[in-house]
Amino acid sequence: MDKFIVKGGKSLNGEVQISGAKNAALPIFAAALLASGKFTIRRVPKLRDTITMIRLLEIIGAEIEFKDSTLEIDTTKCHNPEAPYDLVKTMRASFYVLGPLVARFGRAKVSLPGGCAWGPRPVDFHITAMKQMGVQIDLEEGYILAKAEKLKGNKISFKFPSVGATGNVLMAAVLAEGKTTIHNAAREPEIICLCEFLNKMGAEIVGIGTHELTVDGVSALKPVEFEVIPDRVEAATFLIAGTLLSDELVIKGADRNHLETIFTKLEQAGCNLEVENDFIKINRVERLKPIDVTTAVYPGFPTDVQAQWLALMSLADGTSVITDTIYNDRFTHVAELNRLGAKISLNDNVATVDGVKSLKGAHVMSTDIRASASLVLAALAAEGVTEISRIYHIDRGYERIEEKFSSVGADISRIHK
Ligand code: UD1
Repeated sequence: MDKFIVKGGKSLNGEVQISGAKNAALPIFAAALLASGKFTIRRVPKLRDTITMIRLLEIIGAEIEFKDSTLEIDTTKCHNPEAPYDLVKTMRASFYVLGPLVARFGRAKVSLPGGCAWGPRPVDFHITAMKQMGVQIDLEEGYILAKAEKLKGNKISFKFPSVGATGNVLMAAVLAEGKTTIHNAAREPEIICLCEFLNKMGAEIVGIGTHELTVDGVSALKPVEFEVIPDRVEAATFLIAGTLLSDELVIKGADRNHLETIFTKLEQAGCNLEVENDFIKINRVERLKPIDVTTAVYPGFPTDVQAQWLALMSLADGTSVITDTIYNDRFTHVAELNRLGAKISLNDNVATVDGVKSLKGAHVMSTDIRASASLVLAALAAEGVTEISRIYHIDRGYERIEEKFSSVGADISRIHK
């Protein structure tokens, strides 16, 4: 298992290019299963998770070429509507293939994802909605066996605007008979991106970007060329790094419209941001103000930036309170940040951070993608050397993170084990 060795305290200066969004790319790969033919998807990040999704599509029968950041997917020979446990257990987003496989093949065998590092993360919304659309669902040896002669449009109403369930239902609804309405749909930029991809393929989705989506089922879709949106979580992570350590860090390729809440919070913390269409400039804040955040669905503060915000607030001048309302127990990074000298206490889903003047290097362990990013940020800011183990987590969601940080002056290296 690879590790990072980080010598903290180096100033970060220069330009960083933001990659394509993992959480937009993954459902788009799954959606390519809905039509037979050749797709070209651009701005695809090379990550463990995108490679896992590619392997899954190959098992289903797709032929794939991945060069630079362009993915060519040929779905003509797809024949095996199955997502095996070995892949689904390493990446829950594999579950996204359920909707498209049932829509294209009338059946699917998809492993249940099981738990994850930060709790149970159920898929009940996905399953209930599929049943409402005429899919027969049986459970056998940890697998969902789904069958439908013909998918039927229906009124789907989510208790909570789940990103994954919205995506899965959308991908089933586009080829269903009749109209599907999704009440309380997710409106994250990654869902908007999926809707735009599906509509380019010939789907008829309206209400994009709202909590009420309407899909008129069509009889067939066609392959297309498409560009994935930039990764707003990666951009936020670099913005936080800049707030901690840069004289001038220039972030290129991000979409400013997806980062409004992050900008607001950073400005409240004392940041002086320069936001233009094609770049964001940021520099370090000497006396960082403690700013509370509560995670919420888009456009609220993203749960995927909660861990990185905790790292930032660990060095603020005072006490802040960080509440995660999306996941109650997504705080495995707290104990690790405390090993670096942070003073964070946890009460259920509420973390109270007493800012300290400095952090000190130590051995720490990654526990999930965003938790690892928070450890990298804290390690970059800490005095001395930090060793971060189990970095395969960070490789799931951040493209060449050590190269990107090194290129702007960080001292971070990967040790292959
Ligand atoms: C996606 C993102 C993940 C992000 C999360 C919330 C991808 C690949 N992953 O995950 O990075 O942290 O959105 O923004 O895009 N829920 C249920 N039943 C369900 C589905 C969800 O109870 O069937 C609950 C979840 O436990 C959670 C909440 O709904 O509390 C939100 O989950 P959801 O939006 O579905 O997250 P994911 O799509 O899994």
